[in-house]
Amino acid sequence: MTQPTFLGIDVGTSSIKVVAVDPSGKLLAVASSPMSVDVQRPGWSEQNPEDWWTGTCSAIRQALGEINSPEVLALGLSGQMHSLVPLDVSLNVVRPAILWNDVRSSAEAAYVRDTVGNESLRRLAGNPSLEGFTVTKLLWMRNHEPQLYEKISHMLLAKDYVRFRLTGELATDPSDASATLLFDIVNSRWSDEMCSMLDVDSALLPPIVESAEIAARVTSVAASETGLAVGVPVVGGGADNACAAVGAGVVSSGDALFSVGTSGTVVAPISQPSTDPGMRIHSMRHAVPNTWYLMGVVLSAGAALDWWRRSSGQASFDALVSEATEVEAGSGGVTFLPYLTGERTPHADANARGVFFGMHGGTERAHMTRAVMEGVSFALRDSMELMNELGVNPSEAVAVGGGASSSMWLQMLSDVVDLPLRTIGPSEGAPLGAAMLAAVGGGAFGDVVEAGKAWLTDLESVSPSVSVRGVYDDAYGRYRALYPALRGVFGVGSGE
Ligand code: XUL
Repeated sequence: MTQPTFLGIDVGTSSIKVVAVDPSGKLLAVASSPMSVDVQRPGWSEQNPEDWWTGTCSAIRQALGEINSPEVLALGLSGQMHSLVPLDVSLNVVRPAILWNDVRSSAEAAYVRDTVGNESLRRLAGNPSLEGFTVTKLLWMRNHEPQLYEKISHMLLAKDYVRFRLTGELATDPSDASATLLFDIVNSRWSDEMCSMLDVDSALLPPIVESAEIAARVTSVAASETGLAVGVPVVGGGADNACAAVGAGVVSSGDALFSVGTSGTVVAPISQPSTDPGMRIHSMRHAVPNTWYLMGVVLSAGAALDWWRRSSGQASFDALVSEATEVEAGSGGVTFLPYLTGERTPHADANARGVFFGMHGGTERAHMTRAVMEGVSFALRDSMELMNELGVNPSEAVAVGGGASSSMWLQMLSDVVDLPLRTIGPSEGAPLGAAMLAAVGGGAFGDVVEAGKAWLTDLESVSPSVSVRGVYDDAYGRYRALYPALRGVFGVGSGE
């Protein structure tokens, strides 16, 4: 007897994760390979696509090894958004991938803004020109590495590189394409206008397949490296934020997702394409047909707590967070701005940096830790408030990611954003969403709504507590006041 299995693979920044799920939604295996980020200069962030591939092979083997006679029916991919993988004519990687949180391309982002103009950007790509978006990374190569740029014949995003290694095919899906700034999110096709205005050859761009459509099949070379069978279907898959939403059942308008991983995001699906007139919030095609989502992005969420854990000399997250539970809401007046690598929403400022404010002689590490968690929660509240301004007012939301698995942080987030939050199981998020897309593509379900009903159950629910509302409103007020006060000095004399 074989064990029918759907696999979901997430090409994340801190790890490659693989989940194996049976058709009824039972989690059969979870495996991961850690990844590190190469920061050669402040604001830079790179990874070697070859490491994604070795990590994927080892995590797939690990997951399959935990299942008795697995028969993989289909496989789905999810991955960090925006990250540029340039390939030459022989499909070799030209240089390490420039990642989503790399902010070296400020001059190129300004060039795109000046050349295309904000109104056309909004009409053609639905998003602002920021360092995170892939095309600015490509233009950085054109300006700074012209010999390498000359060699580029194809560009892929992170999960699409892993698909290429699995299947030999070049492809992407609408949700990941949305993150390049070269994609017409309304009509779900590459934007020839954007390409021609920026003088980018549209032949570099891969074909687009819908997220739950079968894009290609596992080759014999990949089969021998991963332990998969030859011919396993691989669906289009999606951007990690889109897949995390699918994997949390956040697929229809009225739903909302808070994700606290390396980055933090607020995602709200919408049934018609719509963009913020000020483009402070991103607009993306969802990994679900005829669905879009609005998204606010906090670049350093879990990454900020991880930075603080390392810098403060604490070995474990659990010990760090448990210390912080002893401190009351408001962190004894300490405020933290989590802008370690600049910020996307709402400031769109690559020069912003992390700030601790308000310490006094009695301030201890526990206050600072709590301030970091509150600062990330305030940053997510900023995104939710922008969505409210755009008429998106969810009455509750799902929370996923490492941050949501801490009961203390979950309650804090609910208090700060003033919304009931629930966690769901399985709580794997993006890789689970990718497995769901595989299950739909593999014919087990008609669509992701059906898959979500079959696979997901609610776990913990928390409601905002009235008693700390005033304290958090005051602390949020301080937090909001700090960025405008400091904007002028960020970047001054930093040598960056
Ligand atoms: C979204 C973004 C991040 C990455 C993290 O725009 O840049 O959330 O997708 O992998």
